[in-house]
Amino acid sequence: MIRGVIFDLDGVLVSTDELHYLAWKQLAEELGITAFTKEDNKRQRGVSRMASLEVVLEKGDKTYTDEEKAELATRKNNYYLKMLDTLTENDLLPGARETLLMLHERGVLTGLGSASKNAPVILEKTGILSLFDKISCGLDTTKSKPDPEVFLVAAKKLELSPEECLVVEDSQAGIDAAKAGGMKSLAVGPLYQTMGADYCAKDLADHVDWDTILNA
Ligand code: BG6
Ligand code: MG
Repeated sequence: MIRGVIFDLDGVLVSTDELHYLAWKQLAEELGITAFTKEDNKRQRGVSRMASLEVVLEKGDKTYTDEEKAELATRKNNYYLKMLDTLTENDLLPGARETLLMLHERGVLTGLGSASKNAPVILEKTGILSLFDKISCGLDTTKSKPDPEVFLVAAKKLELSPEECLVVEDSQAGIDAAKAGGMKSLAVGPLYQTMGADYCAKDLADHVDWDTILNA
């Protein structure tokens, strides 16, 4: 029986993926890296800021010290934060708010399991912070998905066992993390049919058989 649903943020609840891409692209261009594309950006989904930076840097030919890498990641985050200025509830993906409300009505706990250190700001700006019982994000963890750490922290905060949790994800790294943590998974987003999740749907407004999922 599923007693808690743990949501990824970027690409599941909020359409921030394009903003991440644009901010990384801006940094790449400043570094003279022209080969960084939207295809590369797909590999940044779900993984931490520092792991995402490596995806950009491997398209160039320079090496950087850890200190320089930290500065580059901060620079990209500043571009991203500026882009988040205009974020509102209109940036919620289809079915996001409705699903959170439905779960609350059914007495199912809701958690966040996001790699993003900006998660609290994004939840606040899109008006869904109060719809979460517990939050686990990049500020709580040291390991990047596909390591299950961020989901295990969420389950622990919800006081649930992994078997009692369902993870909703749009990235392969996230689905793999859910499996590694012993949790059931629901895949959404452009790759929903190909990630090997237990359940899949185009988005949260698509038909999701919550009765079956929650009673499994
Ligand atoms: C994930 C995104 O949600 O958060 C990744 O899918 C991103 O692309 C990661 O790298 C970390 O985000 P932030 O906001 O801490 O830089
Ligand atoms: Mg995601």
